[in-house]
Amino acid sequence: MKQPLIIGAYGQLGKALQARFPKAVAVDRDSFDITDREFLASYDWRQVSVILNAAAYTNVDGAETAEGRRAAWAINAQAMANLAALAAQHQITLVHVSSDYVFDGTTSPHTEDELVTPLGVYAQTKAAGDIAVGTAPQHYILRVSWLIGDGPNFVRTMMGLAAKGISPSVVDDQIGRLTFTEQLVDAIEHLLKVKAPSGIYNLSGDGEPASWAGITRAIFQELGHNELTVTGISTAEYFKNKPEAAPRPLQSTLDLAKIKTAGFTPRDWREDLATYIAHQDQA
Ligand SMILES: NC(=O)c1ccc[n+]([C@@H]2O[C@H](COP(=O)([O-])OP(=O)(O)OC[C@H]3O[C@@H](n4cnc5c(N)ncnc54)[C@H](OP(=O)(O)O)[C@@H]3O)[C@@H](O)[C@H]2O)c1
Repeated sequence: MKQPLIIGAYGQLGKALQARFPKAVAVDRDSFDITDREFLASYDWRQVSVILNAAAYTNVDGAETAEGRRAAWAINAQAMANLAALAAQHQITLVHVSSDYVFDGTTSPHTEDELVTPLGVYAQTKAAGDIAVGTAPQHYILRVSWLIGDGPNFVRTMMGLAAKGISPSVVDDQIGRLTFTEQLVDAIEHLLKVKAPSGIYNLSGDGEPASWAGITRAIFQELGHNELTVTGISTAEYFKNKPEAAPRPLQSTLDLAKIKTAGFTPRDWREDLATYIAHQDQA
């Protein structure tokens, strides 16, 4: 009996995929390293109904170091080319997740056919990975912005500051929308179920885009911390004394028309934020 294979199953997205596909084979880096070409070639792919790839090198600033650059290219680009070739050989659908960072952020909103213009090393490797995955005859690349799930992320960081009574300075010139892993697995499940045409699909929460500072205000409001203030600062100012930081695109808003045409209606990111915060409070 064939089952889905979740690769990188213990990251933010991997955990959400495991919850949605409980019968899937879930593997972590120790048991299934996507950079190990010999291992990939020897794997019994006849057991796999669909490859759900949640594995990635996601340390955006770490990718700017010599060591990080090597790891990011190996995991996000070369390994994806190897996986795409195996998916093609074994006629398996390959589901992969990409990022708004493949764009330089000078236009908005980003459509699926916009030419990639990545700024930093992480972004370049994700763009290369998208091109590689695109060679698999049957693939879905979900291009998401600002992913939030069960793991270290922006919302949890800001909740931590609120709990300590800290009024932070937060970047106010990067504009986008949050994507919650719950919604991302909904979209993946939908595309597979309706057998949507192979290709790239943008996915984020719907609704009015906001800056990180605006999102922080929404988090504080949701938490009832109305006494805290959020001071907006520019990306240039924020990274002034951090020359090792990767460049960030300013415009991250994704156009959602294509996935809506495929029959999937994303929820407003503010609605998902409220649900997420309520669950964190209970946890
Ligand atoms: N986080 C965001 O804001 C964001 C935004 C846009 C797009 N995305 C994309 O969304 C996807 C999921 O992101 P995420 O936040 O869930 O990432 P994550 O929490 O960092 O999880 C990535 C997982 O990949 C695993 N992994 C790394 N190298 C591997 C290898 N060589 N072989 C097998 N597994 C390996 C990691 O294992 P270890 O922990 O053991 O290394 C980790 O469990 C990624 O493709 C990412 O690029 C993320």
